[in-house]
Amino acid sequence: MRAEWSEGLKVGVDQMDAQHKTLVDLINSLYDLLEAGKKKEAMDLFRERVKVYLEKHLSDEEKFMESIGYPDLEIHKRAHEKFRKLMLEVCEKLKEEDEREFRSALALLWGWLYSHIQKVDKKYGQFYKIKLGNCHP
Ligand SMILES: [Fe+2]
Ligand SMILES: [Fe+2]
Repeated sequence: MRAEWSEGLKVGVDQMDAQHKTLVDLINSLYDLLEAGKKKEAMDLFRERVKVYLEKHLSDEEKFMESIGYPDLEIHKRAHEKFRKLMLEVCEKLKEEDEREFRSALALLWGWLYSHIQKVDKKYGQFYKIKLGNCHP
């Protein structure tokens, strides 16, 4: 299942929307490589680029929430922490280079990202919007 970016995934913070979009593009590049039969390249891309970019995103997002004084920062950080652990487990499994495991890892990553953006990330977007509105009446 390829990932799909849509306007409905926007959280309303340009930097974060751009990073989410990059993650969607990266996930799709992995699927493209798999479809082209380039399993090794796909796994290398996952380990070298996707994992690193995802970590950058989670930590940039935490810094952003901190910078705007987001009240639910700790809850949000805990959700990120759980996911970091899950990704570590996934990477362990991928050492075998099993394509089925890899595909299920991709589905897990996209499933998590999609529901996290919808249910968790959008909340700081709403807070940010209200805060901006208060600063510029
Ligand atoms: Fe998040
Ligand atoms: Fe996010």
